[in-house]
Amino acid sequence: GAPVEADVSKLKPGEMMTVEWRGKPVWILRRTPEMLASLDKTDEKVSDPNSEEPQQPDYAKNKHRSIKPEYLVTVGICTHLGCSPSEKFKVGAEGGMTADWPGGFLCPCHGSLFDLAGRVYSSMPAPTNLEIPPHQYLADTTILVG
Ligand code: FES
Repeated sequence: GAPVEADVSKLKPGEMMTVEWRGKPVWILRRTPEMLASLDKTDEKVSDPNSEEPQQPDYAKNKHRSIKPEYLVTVGICTHLGCSPSEKFKVGAEGGMTADWPGGFLCPCHGSLFDLAGRVYSSMPAPTNLEIPPHQYLADTTILVG
């Protein structure tokens, strides 16, 4: 499949957009400072905090799993059996961003829980963190996925 360009200039902090790449949904989440800070809390709850899994691009091998800390670019497909996790990071009724639950993604199929960097919590059915697709910045707010 051809690479896909994403214009993230209109994405506000805390918002997420989806682009399609090779028939897969790719999520781009613009994380707020609070969201990034939540990764310190989830560090000890996830099984691969620094994304050392070999299939990850080098720029995903860190806590925020991205080139720029602010933008998470990840494939929105559960690494267990391929269901689509739902976003759970909005404040309020949707849950997320509270003292107990800093937000992330929840797979409805078998309950795998991921944090705001797509890192899977320990002892979940999903074997690895959400996939980070190859991508690069063409400009400050233009991302090329693929
Ligand atoms: Fe997501 Fe099984 S497919 S937990």
